[in-house]
Order: sequence, then C-alpha cells, then structure tokens
Amino acid sequence: MSPTVRTQVAIVGAGPAGLVLSHLLAAEGIASIIVDARSREDIEQTIRAGILEQGTVDLLATIPGSRVHSVGMRHDGIELRFEGAGHRIDFHRLVGRSVWLYPQHEALRDLLAARLADGQDIRFGTTATAIEGVDGTRPRVVATDAAGGVVDIEADFVVGADGSRSVVRHAISGPHAGLFREYPFGWFGILCEAAPSADELIYSNSPDGFALISQRSATVQRMYFQCDPDADPHAMSEREIWDELQRRVPGTELVEGPIFQRDVLRFRSFVARDLRAGRVAIVGDAAHTVPPTGAKGMNLAVADVVLLARALEALLKRADASLIDGWADAARARIWKAQHFSWWMTSMLHTVPGATDFDRARQLGELRTVVESEAGRTYLAEAYTGWPLG
Ligand code: DHB
Repeated sequence: MSPTVRTQVAIVGAGPAGLVLSHLLAAEGIASIIVDARSREDIEQTIRAGILEQGTVDLLATIPGSRVHSVGMRHDGIELRFEGAGHRIDFHRLVGRSVWLYPQHEALRDLLAARLADGQDIRFGTTATAIEGVDGTRPRVVATDAAGGVVDIEADFVVGADGSRSVVRHAISGPHAGLFREYPFGWFGILCEAAPSADELIYSNSPDGFALISQRSATVQRMYFQCDPDADPHAMSEREIWDELQRRVPGTELVEGPIFQRDVLRFRSFVARDLRAGRVAIVGDAAHTVPPTGAKGMNLAVADVVLLARALEALLKRADASLIDGWADAARARIWKAQHFSWWMTSMLHTVPGATDFDRARQLGELRTVVESEAGRTYLAEAYTGWPLG
C-alpha cells in the first residue's frame, strides 16, 4: 500500500487552468497539490494561441515575476479582411478594452516559476489514473509516478484541469461526454523568422479560404491558413506555403522568411455534460473545447478557475456551499457565450468545402453587416476582449 497524501485541493493538470487555480487558492491560504503526466519542459514547450483577454492579463500581471506587460504586446484592434479590403475593429474606441499578444508557453513559464518559488507541490511525470470517492466528502486522485509507484492523494475537493482527454471528466460523467460539433477544416500553422506583416492581427476571408496573420515578436511570426483537417504538415514546400498564404490575404503583401515550425490543428466545439459532481469539478479544456478562431481557449480556462476559486474559498474556509452549488451554471453561461463567439468567427470567416454561390454571397453580406455597423463591431470587440468577470 502506498501512503496517502492529504491536501485541501487536488488539481490534475499543470496547464494554465491548474496553475492559475493553485495561485488563486494559495492567495486565500488554501493548500493544493498538482499532478501532471508531462515534464516541466514539455509543459513549457506547448505551442498554443497567443491572445489574452484584458481580464486574463490583469490577473496574470498580479503573479510575481510575470512578464506579461514587459514581453507581451498590447493590441487595441484587429483587421477583418475580405474582398481585398481591410476593415479595422477598434477595440479601444468601441469598448475601452484591449487584448495582449503573449504566447501561452510564455505565460506557462511565468506561472510555473512563480508557483515553484512559492513552494507549490507540483508532481511532474505523474499520471492520474482514477478518481475515487466522487460521491463522498473526501475524493481521491490515484496516480502513477514516473518510477511506476502509486500516488494516492486525498482532498476536500478534486479539480480536473487535465485537458481534452480528461480522466476527471470521465469520473464525473462516464461515457456521456457532452455536446459537440466537428468542422470540415482545420488550420495549417507556421512559425517563421520574419518581420511583422502588419501592426495588428489580420483575419482574412478569401475565396481560397481563411488565413490568420498573427505575430510572436519583432522577428518571429505566427500564421495560419485553413486546410483539410487530415493534411500532412510536411507535404508542402516552403514556397507552396507562402503562395497559399499570400493568395489568402489579397491586397496585403506578407513579409516572408524561413519557416521553422509547422503543425495542423483540428477544430472542434465541445461542452461537457457535467462540470461538477459533488466535490469534483472540471475546468478548461477538460470541460470544453472551442475552435481556435478568436483565441478563447486559455481565456475561458482562466474564467472557469476565477469563479471556482471564489466558490472553493467559500466552501473550504467558511463552509458556505452556495457558490459551489451555483458554479457550474455560472461557468456554463460564459462558456456558451464563448462557444457561440468562436463558432460565429469561424463560420463567418472560413469557406466550407462544397459551399454554393448563395453561401458565399451571404457570408460577404454578413461580413459587411458587421464592419459597417457600430453595433456589429461593438459585439465583436466585446466578445474578443472578453466579458468582465463580475
Ligand atoms: C492566435 C491564435 C488564434 O486562434 C487567434 O484567434 C489569434 C491569434 C495566435 O496563435 O497568435
């Protein structure tokens, strides 16, 4: 028998959701242990989206040593491009809010360094295999460490921040996963050494499909173009990739440079049926997936845990269960707004294989409706910069 370790909150997953939660709990004097199957190096090298909502940045900026303001770049708007013309959505003027370009792996480096400096117990290379006692008051995470030893963590509350193939979700809902939809396209993503092609991000709709011109720094750029979800990222030459990208942002000349990383991202929308059962909850990608257009993934994970931290503070420090009882509904309300926004940006900007002339003309009508209307631009700005957490 392995010894049982006891803590207040056992967190499965050291991604943004798990790390931000442990930070918020520690600030309330609530102890937690995090387990993650990956090594610290693997976590720090995860390549994900680069856009943070204002509320996410405000929270990350409170973490000691955070570089979000020094390395991150504030963006006050984006460009929507269609029919060869660009239309700026001026977030700052429309809603008085902005977003920050700060790649997720940089945020993870900051979070890991700060949590470890604070003495946080993080068990890397430790894979959760089962959650036991879901119906009781002392749920347990059973895990296997890198040496094959069993780790048994008993807690007042267990949180699954363990990504889209969540073990914790399975313990809550079994095979009844939730609501989802698939998309008939994905994104071909590249990182390249080049100067930025524009001051702000360009979301471009073209007859050949969507492209997103994003950035990483003064010398490294991130770009994506719509592709077959089964595309082989190594089947195209660099010349073919640049030609494809250039074709999809008509009216703009992209600055080209050596491509040093390429990947294909699949699209999915998903919301788990149950976000909580008793003293076990799921957050972030364990609870939901959004298609990447609009970069809501990490922001939604942070919103989940901000609400959850408040509910756990009430439950564990004041024996007040009212917030935890309402947590899933409160989280779900925001999750579905973000689901809608991500689906809407995706469907408005991508071309669907087999689309008719009617579909294409209607889509251009929709884009014009948004950019020519103050109300349309304002909705986009509100959703993109993120709804306040209240
Ligand atoms: C990035 C990704 C997105 O999905 C998005 O909408 C904006 C930016 C990025 O990786 O930079």
